[in-house]
Amino acid sequence: MKLAIIGTGHVGLVSAVCFAEMGYEVTGIDSDSKKIEGLKKGIIPIYEEGLKELLDKNKQKLKFTTSIPEGIQEADIIFICVGTPPKTSGDADLSIIEDVVTQIASSMKSYKIIVEKSTVPVQTGKRVKQLMEMKLKGKVEFDIASNPEFLREAKAIYDSLHPDRIVIGVESERAKNLFIELYKPINAPLVITNIESAELIKHASNSFLAMKISFINAVSTVCELSGADIRKVAEGIGLDKRIGKDFLNAGIGFGGFCFPKDLKAFRRIASKLGYEFGLLEEVEKINEEMKIGFVDKIENALWNLKDKTIGILGLAFKPGTEDMRYAPSIDIISALQESGAKIRAYDPEAMEEAKGVLKDITYCKDAYDVAKDSDCLCIVTEWDEFKNMDLKKIKDLLRSPIIIDGRNIFEKEKIEKLGFKYKGIGIKQ
Ligand code: UDX
Repeated sequence: MKLAIIGTGHVGLVSAVCFAEMGYEVTGIDSDSKKIEGLKKGIIPIYEEGLKELLDKNKQKLKFTTSIPEGIQEADIIFICVGTPPKTSGDADLSIIEDVVTQIASSMKSYKIIVEKSTVPVQTGKRVKQLMEMKLKGKVEFDIASNPEFLREAKAIYDSLHPDRIVIGVESERAKNLFIELYKPINAPLVITNIESAELIKHASNSFLAMKISFINAVSTVCELSGADIRKVAEGIGLDKRIGKDFLNAGIGFGGFCFPKDLKAFRRIASKLGYEFGLLEEVEKINEEMKIGFVDKIENALWNLKDKTIGILGLAFKPGTEDMRYAPSIDIISALQESGAKIRAYDPEAMEEAKGVLKDITYCKDAYDVAKDSDCLCIVTEWDEFKNMDLKKIKDLLRSPIIIDGRNIFEKEKIEKLGFKYKGIGIKQ
């Protein structure tokens, strides 16, 4: 079976490489010629652990091109993995999908399944099918399908090759059987359903996970007010199998290119269909409040922020990635700067990305460089190298020994024993 993947961003590139690892011949297609030229030479445009090695291992099975007409001809299945960025209204912008589908329809010469792998609102498949029928040249058979991807950045290869489940939305036996064949090398339950349900599963999954984070973050606020400890509360809740322990880490909130935009897009499509999903609005609100609360904690510890120097450890939206999209660090640093604070910051991977978004910052070479002459140290992204810092050295470098931990990476008792003043999230202040 031969595959074409349109869009070589995080989802597309990882999927292409993983399908090659599963034994298929894959053509990766992208309109960005610089990216494609790089990929042909084995240059990976994103930071994702293990991706380069897997690409090199499977280079015989991988081709790259900028041309959709050329790249799709031999493929049995075409995966659309292009971006669906948010519009100002919160709706998903599906114009790239429209463009890609038009190109597929105008050049396709034999039966293929056209698959939405990017996250799209429910009923997008219906529109894709209408567009295909309108633009197809000649009598060529096709199927539309939805096969959402659930990979996490930084764990993308593992998630793709060891998924909890594979969701397949199809309308014909022919497409269903091709998918069953395609995923034979993967040991995971298949959820085979109609296209609308598959589309909805993706939005609902991401929204549910975001809701879980906002729930525990809201509980963390009650913990602070009552003297309870969120880490123990989360452990106690999470051991109930019906709840589960994952995604119960309280902190400064979720970021990244999926949760914030998918929440908005899910709310918008629900509203267009006639249902106001107020619960999701609250999830977003709590997420925003966590960032404001973190800035308040810093202000509380330092009294006035004006002319104070704040050391920021971690800029990426989570560890293991250079991705700065919707990173909580952006709002937090902007708020601190608005109050007149100066920022010293460091991230193990996201420095270059950050420089494009966050200005007027002293970018430092490591955590110790950040601590030097800072009035406090703030943990914003929980990279391992911060967990293993020499805290005695950090204390000597700081102007005042204050740590505000937005990801609860330290034990309050241990840190205080070293002479620090410590504030975490959902921990007695
Ligand atoms: C997410 C989904 O997990 C994935 O299935 C989907 O395909 C894409 O969106 P990703 O955005 O890569 O993946 O990151 P994830 O690891 O899920 O974390 C998202 C955000 O939630 C991060 O900012 C993270 O710091 C935050 N988070 C996560 C918490 O604040 N607490 C937690 O307990 C878990």
